[in-house]
Amino acid sequence: MLNLVLFGPPGSGKGTQSEKLITKYQLVHFSTGDILRGEINAGSQLGKEAKSFMEKGELVPDSVVIGMIAQKVDQNLNAKGFIFDGFPRTVAQAEALDKMLKERSIGISGMLSLEVAHDELVKRLLNRGLSSGRADDKDENVIENRIKVYNKETAPVADFYNKQNKFHGIKGVGEIDEIFNRLVSAIDTLA
Ligand code: AP5
Repeated sequence: MLNLVLFGPPGSGKGTQSEKLITKYQLVHFSTGDILRGEINAGSQLGKEAKSFMEKGELVPDSVVIGMIAQKVDQNLNAKGFIFDGFPRTVAQAEALDKMLKERSIGISGMLSLEVAHDELVKRLLNRGLSSGRADDKDENVIENRIKVYNKETAPVADFYNKQNKFHGIKGVGEIDEIFNRLVSAIDTLA
Protein backbone atom coordinates (compact mmCIF):
# COMPACT_ATOMS: atom_id res chain seq x y z
CA MET A 1 0.00 0.00 0.00
CA LEU A 2 1.02 3.60 -0.57
CA ASN A 3 0.02 5.47 2.59
CA LEU A 4 0.81 9.18 2.60
CA VAL A 5 0.51 11.89 5.20
CA LEU A 6 -0.05 15.22 3.42
CA PHE A 7 1.05 17.84 5.89
CA GLY A 8 1.28 21.62 6.08
CA PRO A 9 -0.27 24.70 7.66
CA PRO A 10 -3.86 25.86 6.99
CA GLY A 11 -4.11 27.02 3.38
CA SER A 12 -0.91 25.31 2.23
CA GLY A 13 -2.79 23.34 -0.44
CA LYS A 14 -3.34 19.93 1.19
CA GLY A 15 -6.91 19.60 -0.06
CA THR A 16 -6.08 20.91 -3.54
CA GLN A 17 -3.15 18.54 -4.01
CA SER A 18 -4.96 15.56 -2.42
CA GLU A 19 -7.59 15.74 -5.16
CA LYS A 20 -4.89 15.33 -7.81
CA LEU A 21 -2.94 12.67 -5.94
CA ILE A 22 -5.96 10.42 -5.34
CA THR A 23 -6.60 10.38 -9.09
CA LYS A 24 -3.02 9.61 -10.03
CA TYR A 25 -2.36 6.93 -7.42
CA GLN A 26 -5.95 5.74 -6.84
CA LEU A 27 -5.78 6.35 -3.13
CA VAL A 28 -8.56 6.77 -0.59
CA HIS A 29 -8.63 10.31 0.82
CA PHE A 30 -9.21 10.95 4.52
CA SER A 31 -9.54 14.64 5.36
CA THR A 32 -10.43 15.04 9.03
CA GLY A 33 -11.55 18.63 8.31
CA ASP A 34 -13.97 17.45 5.58
CA ILE A 35 -15.25 14.60 7.75
CA LEU A 36 -15.86 16.98 10.66
CA ARG A 37 -17.62 19.55 8.43
CA GLY A 38 -19.80 16.70 7.14
CA GLU A 39 -20.73 15.82 10.72
CA ILE A 40 -21.60 19.47 11.46
CA ASN A 41 -23.79 19.68 8.35
CA ALA A 42 -25.51 16.43 9.32
CA GLY A 43 -26.20 17.86 12.79
CA SER A 44 -24.70 14.79 14.49
CA GLN A 45 -23.58 14.69 18.11
CA LEU A 46 -19.96 14.53 16.95
CA GLY A 47 -20.54 17.58 14.75
CA LYS A 48 -22.04 19.50 17.65
CA GLU A 49 -18.98 18.72 19.77
CA ALA A 50 -16.56 19.72 16.99
CA LYS A 51 -18.28 22.94 15.87
CA SER A 52 -17.18 25.26 18.67
CA PHE A 53 -13.53 24.18 18.39
CA MET A 54 -13.48 24.61 14.60
CA GLU A 55 -15.14 28.04 14.63
CA LYS A 56 -12.39 29.33 16.91
CA GLY A 57 -9.58 27.68 14.94
CA GLU A 58 -8.78 25.32 17.82
CA LEU A 59 -8.14 21.60 17.44
CA VAL A 60 -10.93 19.11 18.07
CA PRO A 61 -9.90 16.71 20.90
CA ASP A 62 -7.56 13.87 19.84
CA SER A 63 -9.91 11.13 21.06
CA VAL A 64 -12.63 12.31 18.65
CA VAL A 65 -10.50 12.38 15.50
CA ILE A 66 -8.49 9.22 16.24
CA GLY A 67 -11.67 7.14 16.60
CA MET A 68 -13.07 8.67 13.43
CA ILE A 69 -9.99 7.75 11.35
CA ALA A 70 -9.74 4.19 12.70
CA GLN A 71 -13.32 3.58 11.58
CA LYS A 72 -12.59 4.94 8.05
CA VAL A 73 -9.41 2.85 7.69
CA ASP A 74 -11.30 -0.31 8.65
CA GLN A 75 -13.90 0.42 5.99
CA ASN A 76 -11.17 0.61 3.31
CA LEU A 77 -8.62 -2.09 4.08
CA ASN A 78 -8.63 -3.32 0.46
CA ALA A 79 -7.60 0.09 -0.92
CA LYS A 80 -4.36 0.67 -2.84
CA GLY A 81 -3.45 3.19 -0.18
CA PHE A 82 -4.54 6.21 1.81
CA ILE A 83 -3.89 9.95 1.89
CA PHE A 84 -4.24 11.42 5.36
CA ASP A 85 -4.96 15.14 4.89
CA GLY A 86 -5.02 17.31 8.01
CA PHE A 87 -4.27 14.28 10.19
CA PRO A 88 -2.24 13.63 12.30
CA ARG A 89 -2.23 17.11 13.79
CA THR A 90 -0.64 16.40 17.17
CA VAL A 91 2.14 14.05 18.21
CA ALA A 92 -0.46 12.04 20.16
CA GLN A 93 -2.46 11.59 16.93
CA ALA A 94 0.71 10.53 15.05
CA GLU A 95 1.52 7.93 17.72
CA ALA A 96 -2.06 6.66 17.69
CA LEU A 97 -2.02 6.42 13.87
CA ASP A 98 1.24 4.44 13.88
CA LYS A 99 -0.15 2.06 16.49
CA MET A 100 -3.48 1.65 14.72
CA LEU A 101 -1.82 0.95 11.34
CA LYS A 102 0.69 -1.46 12.90
CA GLU A 103 -2.16 -3.46 14.42
CA ARG A 104 -3.41 -3.89 10.83
CA SER A 105 0.11 -4.75 9.51
CA ILE A 106 0.38 -1.53 7.49
CA GLY A 107 2.40 1.68 7.89
CA ILE A 108 3.01 5.20 6.61
CA SER A 109 5.13 5.28 3.43
CA GLY A 110 6.05 8.95 3.73
CA MET A 111 5.06 12.37 4.96
CA LEU A 112 4.95 15.23 2.46
CA SER A 113 5.05 18.66 4.03
CA LEU A 114 3.88 21.64 1.94
CA GLU A 115 5.92 24.71 2.86
CA VAL A 116 4.21 28.09 2.42
CA ALA A 117 5.02 31.39 4.15
CA HIS A 118 2.61 32.98 6.66
CA ASP A 119 1.42 35.95 4.55
CA GLU A 120 0.60 33.75 1.56
CA LEU A 121 -1.46 31.43 3.82
CA VAL A 122 -3.50 34.35 5.17
CA LYS A 123 -4.02 35.72 1.67
CA ARG A 124 -5.24 32.36 0.31
CA LEU A 125 -7.61 31.73 3.21
CA LEU A 126 -9.14 35.21 3.22
CA ASN A 127 -9.65 34.87 -0.51
CA ARG A 128 -11.34 31.49 -0.10
CA GLY A 129 -13.44 32.95 2.72
CA LEU A 130 -15.16 35.21 0.21
CA SER A 131 -16.98 32.18 -1.19
CA SER A 132 -16.33 29.02 0.88
CA GLY A 133 -18.94 29.57 3.57
CA ARG A 134 -16.40 28.25 6.09
CA ALA A 135 -16.73 30.11 9.38
CA ASP A 136 -12.99 29.68 10.06
CA ASP A 137 -12.01 31.41 6.78
CA LYS A 138 -14.01 34.60 7.31
CA ASP A 139 -12.26 36.19 10.25
CA GLU A 140 -8.57 37.09 10.04
CA ASN A 141 -8.18 36.59 13.81
CA VAL A 142 -9.43 33.02 13.50
CA ILE A 143 -7.07 32.42 10.56
CA GLU A 144 -4.16 33.74 12.65
CA ASN A 145 -5.22 31.44 15.50
CA ARG A 146 -5.28 28.42 13.17
CA ILE A 147 -1.71 29.23 12.09
CA LYS A 148 -0.65 29.74 15.72
CA VAL A 149 -2.20 26.41 16.76
CA TYR A 150 -0.46 24.76 13.80
CA ASN A 151 2.94 26.15 14.82
CA LYS A 152 2.50 25.13 18.45
CA GLU A 153 0.67 21.81 18.31
CA THR A 154 1.03 20.46 14.77
CA ALA A 155 4.52 21.48 13.57
CA PRO A 156 6.18 19.00 16.03
CA VAL A 157 4.55 16.15 14.07
CA ALA A 158 7.13 16.82 11.30
CA ASP A 159 9.90 15.85 13.70
CA PHE A 160 8.03 12.66 14.61
CA TYR A 161 8.23 11.53 10.95
CA ASN A 162 11.71 12.97 10.42
CA LYS A 163 13.00 10.63 13.13
CA GLN A 164 11.59 7.75 11.06
CA ASN A 165 13.25 9.16 7.88
CA LYS A 166 9.81 9.68 6.36
CA PHE A 167 9.73 13.49 6.18
CA HIS A 168 9.83 15.22 2.76
CA GLY A 169 9.64 19.02 2.62
CA ILE A 170 7.97 20.31 -0.57
CA LYS A 171 7.92 23.94 -1.73
CA GLY A 172 4.18 24.73 -1.73
CA VAL A 173 4.28 28.01 -3.65
CA GLY A 174 3.79 28.44 -7.39
CA GLU A 175 1.41 26.91 -9.93
CA ILE A 176 -0.74 24.04 -8.65
CA ASP A 177 0.60 21.65 -11.33
CA GLU A 178 4.18 22.61 -10.59
CA ILE A 179 3.67 21.77 -6.88
CA PHE A 180 1.91 18.53 -7.86
CA ASN A 181 4.96 17.52 -9.94
CA ARG A 182 7.22 18.13 -6.93
CA LEU A 183 4.99 15.89 -4.83
CA VAL A 184 4.97 13.16 -7.48
CA SER A 185 8.79 13.24 -7.70
CA ALA A 186 9.02 12.75 -3.94
CA ILE A 187 6.35 10.01 -3.88
CA ASP A 188 8.04 8.10 -6.68
CA THR A 189 11.14 7.71 -4.48
CA LEU A 190 9.09 6.01 -1.74
CA ALA A 191 8.09 2.73 -3.37
P1 AP5 B 1 -8.97 21.47 7.84
O1 AP5 B 1 -10.21 21.35 7.08
O2 AP5 B 1 -7.96 20.38 7.83
O3 AP5 B 1 -8.34 22.85 7.45
P2 AP5 B 1 -6.84 23.36 7.41
O4 AP5 B 1 -5.75 22.48 7.81
O5 AP5 B 1 -6.95 24.64 8.13
O6 AP5 B 1 -6.61 23.39 5.92
P3 AP5 B 1 -7.41 24.03 4.78
O7 AP5 B 1 -8.42 23.08 4.24
O8 AP5 B 1 -7.91 25.37 5.13
O9 AP5 B 1 -6.20 24.24 3.78
P4 AP5 B 1 -5.43 23.21 2.85
O10 AP5 B 1 -4.01 23.07 3.27
O11 AP5 B 1 -6.21 21.96 2.62
O12 AP5 B 1 -5.41 24.08 1.55
P5 AP5 B 1 -6.45 24.09 0.33
O13 AP5 B 1 -6.03 23.11 -0.69
O14 AP5 B 1 -7.84 24.00 0.86
O15 AP5 B 1 -9.31 21.73 9.41
C1 AP5 B 1 -10.27 22.66 9.81
C2 AP5 B 1 -10.49 22.55 11.32
O16 AP5 B 1 -10.98 21.22 11.63
C3 AP5 B 1 -9.24 22.69 12.20
O17 AP5 B 1 -8.96 24.05 12.48
C4 AP5 B 1 -9.67 21.92 13.45
O18 AP5 B 1 -10.54 22.66 14.25
C5 AP5 B 1 -10.44 20.74 12.86
N1 AP5 B 1 -9.58 19.57 12.58
C6 AP5 B 1 -9.34 19.03 11.34
N2 AP5 B 1 -8.51 17.98 11.45
C7 AP5 B 1 -8.23 17.85 12.78
C8 AP5 B 1 -7.41 16.96 13.50
N3 AP5 B 1 -6.72 15.98 12.89
N4 AP5 B 1 -7.33 17.12 14.85
C9 AP5 B 1 -8.03 18.09 15.48
N5 AP5 B 1 -8.81 18.99 14.84
C10 AP5 B 1 -8.92 18.86 13.50
O19 AP5 B 1 -6.16 25.54 -0.26
C11 AP5 B 1 -6.52 26.70 0.44
C12 AP5 B 1 -6.85 27.80 -0.59
O20 AP5 B 1 -5.67 28.12 -1.33
C13 AP5 B 1 -7.89 27.37 -1.63
O21 AP5 B 1 -8.73 28.45 -1.92
C14 AP5 B 1 -7.05 26.96 -2.84
O22 AP5 B 1 -7.75 27.13 -4.04
C15 AP5 B 1 -5.87 27.91 -2.71
N6 AP5 B 1 -4.62 27.34 -3.26
C16 AP5 B 1 -4.20 26.05 -3.18
N7 AP5 B 1 -3.00 25.91 -3.79
C17 AP5 B 1 -2.66 27.15 -4.25
C18 AP5 B 1 -1.53 27.64 -4.96
N8 AP5 B 1 -0.52 26.84 -5.32
N9 AP5 B 1 -1.50 28.96 -5.25
C19 AP5 B 1 -2.53 29.79 -4.88
N10 AP5 B 1 -3.64 29.37 -4.24
C20 AP5 B 1 -3.70 28.06 -3.91
